[in-house]
Amino acid sequence: MIDVPSRLAPPRASAMIEALRGLGYTPGTALADIIDNSIAAKASIIRVAVDWQERGGVVTILDNGSGMDDHALELAMRLGDRSPLDDRSETDLGRFGLGLKTASFSQGRRLTVASKKNGTVSVLRWDLDYLLNSADGGWHLLEGADPGSAPLVDLLSSVDSGTLVIWELLDRMMPGSGCAQDVLDLLDRIEKHLGMVFHRFIADRRVSLLLNGRAVTAWDPYLAGNSATWSSPRTPLGKKAKGAWVQAFVLPHRDHLKSKEHDAAAGPEGWNAHQGFFVYRNDRLLLSGGWLGLGKGRHWIREEPYRLARIQLDLPNSLDGDWKIDIRKSTAQPPKSVRTMLTHVAEDARERARRIFAYRGTPVTGPRGELVSQVWETTQVRAGVRYRIRHDHPAVSAVLSAAAAGLGLREDALAMLRVIEETVPVQRIWLDTAENRDTPRTGFGGEPTSELKSVVQTLFNSMIKRKGMAPELARAALLRTEPFDQYPELVTTLAEEK
Ligand SMILES: Nc1ncnc2c1ncn2[C@@H]1O[C@H](COP(=O)(O)OP(=O)(O)O)[C@@H](O)[C@H]1O
Ligand SMILES: [Mg+2]
Repeated sequence: MIDVPSRLAPPRASAMIEALRGLGYTPGTALADIIDNSIAAKASIIRVAVDWQERGGVVTILDNGSGMDDHALELAMRLGDRSPLDDRSETDLGRFGLGLKTASFSQGRRLTVASKKNGTVSVLRWDLDYLLNSADGGWHLLEGADPGSAPLVDLLSSVDSGTLVIWELLDRMMPGSGCAQDVLDLLDRIEKHLGMVFHRFIADRRVSLLLNGRAVTAWDPYLAGNSATWSSPRTPLGKKAKGAWVQAFVLPHRDHLKSKEHDAAAGPEGWNAHQGFFVYRNDRLLLSGGWLGLGKGRHWIREEPYRLARIQLDLPNSLDGDWKIDIRKSTAQPPKSVRTMLTHVAEDARERARRIFAYRGTPVTGPRGELVSQVWETTQVRAGVRYRIRHDHPAVSAVLSAAAAGLGLREDALAMLRVIEETVPVQRIWLDTAENRDTPRTGFGGEPTSELKSVVQTLFNSMIKRKGMAPELARAALLRTEPFDQYPELVTTLAEEK
């Protein structure tokens, strides 16, 4: 190298680390980063323990992987010891040489790593308060564990080889007051997140993951075993696929699921969040939804009608650069070469999802949960859905009883209803429902029109004059009647016409 005049300008350790703390990890994503390392080290059992009774909170992550000798541990503790540009083994879930440190510091001020290999245990630690108080601003990696946490290193005696990560002084981990309920909620969120991120490893028993002694269960985003789930063939992504695959799934309408199944399939963040692409890197889930900035004209965003579409996208770690995988492994951007194909796959899945979502059974309750007398009755028959007009709807029963008083009129009225029923523009309704997502406009939607006002008035008059109802009763009945239940102000001010 040519000798150029230069100055050594290392960052102040404490300032640098304080800045890295703000990368935006959650407890779940931070733990997932530590577990990535354990999986890369071929661990089969990973035990996570969160203890809030101990000295302001302690988290331990113990694996039975290959472990590290003293030199390897020192390199592991250094920030950015490996370049993100290096090639990685096919099963490596790491990339930037930062995860262990950034994930840990995002939650607490002290990180201790103890590792066992060939019967020897090495222990090193970073202590942010020590760095903060050191006059030279240097990167002082401390030997051994803090006296307070030294006994925890014994956890390694249960494995032949492996690594123990200890987080202490957890100033960033607990939201809220730290009461018992907050702790339970936190554990619940962590469990759901880990069960999602590592669902493939857990489901095929490559890894058993325990949180406070309890096995974390895998979340199944696709319900692939359900006969009502649709899936496309698994297709290589582009000609030079290099191990990248895509497969679309459309989950069943909720009518086809038991309510428990439906709730479980929603996932940790709910149905709307978990639509779109599920991006895996070496089987580890990086992204659990979203449309990757794809779309026709405008970027697709997460919307209700497409919530049943979930598209599995598998990437090998050799494509990290092409896909712009970030430090937190929380974003990915499809390279230009595959955008057209992905847009195609997504468009097809979205269309299918929308159609399934738009199918609806008969609602039994109104928008505020009360029972509403409906005009149309939807029944499921073998040939499909059938629409009928209910004869007990006040508007209909008014005609029918008036007709009953005249000769033969009742037959005519019934015939008229049948004609209407037979000519319901089903095709049209279906299209409108799908196009306007879940809210087809009904005739009387929006502000009460003068037409609606006159219909209500006519009905009200008829209820009082023909049926002899008291005005209050008539008003109350109308409030419980579709579509007048949408206009309480109009109904409550109805007055008898002399
Ligand atoms: N649980 C572990 N078992 C064995 N080696 C580990 C473990 N955790 C970390 N390491 C080593 O430390 C290195 C640095 O880890 P990390 O900071 O997460 O960066 P990256 O995973 O991107 O390499 C890893 O590449 C690995 O060699
Ligand atoms: Mg890592």
